[in-house]
Amino acid sequence: DAGKSGYDHYMRKEITEQPRAIRDCLRGRIEELGATVSLPELEELESPSAVQFVACGTSYHAGLFGERLLQRRGIPAQTFVASEYDADQLPVDEETLVVGVTQSGETADTMRALRGANRAGATTLALTNVVASSAARECDHVLYIRAGPEISVAATKSFASQQVTLSLLATALAETADPSSSASREHLRELRRLPDYIQSVLDDSNARSVAEAFLESDAYFFIGRGYNAPVALEGALKLKEITYRHAEGFPAGELKHGPLALVTEATPVFAVVSSREKTSATIGNVTEVQARGAPVVAVTDSPETVGSHADFVLEVPETHPAVMPIVANVQLQLVAYWLADALDRPIDKPRNLAKSVTVL
Ligand code: G6P
Repeated sequence: DAGKSGYDHYMRKEITEQPRAIRDCLRGRIEELGATVSLPELEELESPSAVQFVACGTSYHAGLFGERLLQRRGIPAQTFVASEYDADQLPVDEETLVVGVTQSGETADTMRALRGANRAGATTLALTNVVASSAARECDHVLYIRAGPEISVAATKSFASQQVTLSLLATALAETADPSSSASREHLRELRRLPDYIQSVLDDSNARSVAEAFLESDAYFFIGRGYNAPVALEGALKLKEITYRHAEGFPAGELKHGPLALVTEATPVFAVVSSREKTSATIGNVTEVQARGAPVVAVTDSPETVGSHADFVLEVPETHPAVMPIVANVQLQLVAYWLADALDRPIDKPRNLAKSVTVL
């Protein structure tokens, strides 16, 4: 228990460690003037023609976020659930960069995918938390996320650190591909402010009362668009892992293609709505579920625009659209945590799950 620093669970401790984890992740990696990224680990890396992410679970959601960051910088990118990846069936050559996103660096599915990519002649990069892990040893390049040890089975701070490392990687690759392109100063500036933004959420979140308002719901839905879509998936995964309740996340536009049939007064919908990411479209989805009587929890940096459409607001500071989901996710982590706590679940060790799955 000493390792929990006074918290009831490692998960809670690790959620609160996120500002520090992100500071560690960023240390020395953004140049003083804030315009360029410095990743000496990748000095030898040639500019790839395309990037493929392979990952499982929470790390897969980080990959989906990385894919969006790269695509918006003009770099072709795709994310694969590692167990579905087969380098022999894909266009892969030495100009393809295959990035294994893996906290532990030991997940069997991810290692199998990376080994296949190595055999197919791709360039491989491990984005991992664990120094000298299998992924770190077997890939051509390695980028550490520096989250520090994560004990709770449900990944929290490692996800934030993965998202931040992917933000740096995307900026670095865009700079290499086109040295004349100036990095997004605003994005890097907001990344440096991210620890403070997360701290403000940790200091003043109403996630606990939101969780307690929905103790007996039938199911929990999570929606988001663009940069916020991966966080919708992650919000649902976290909730199902530790509460054993049914939860589903999807890109907001998919609601009307099926899930809407399940929406009732007994299914709260958590909508991640950024003031600068397809806001009106997501608000449109929110009104659709409200019309079916579903309670809406908006996770937003724009309570004045979204608040009137929601039953509850989980507020986050206004920031760059690619930084907002990292903060929003902290609110969703807290909802899952407090719901599991109220249900008296074994939060750090959910049934049937393991921190690192080393069998195929
Ligand atoms: C397990 C854990 C998840 C984790 C996944 C991938 O299923 O329970 O929390 O996201 O493995 O782990 P990795 O170490 O590869 O990121």
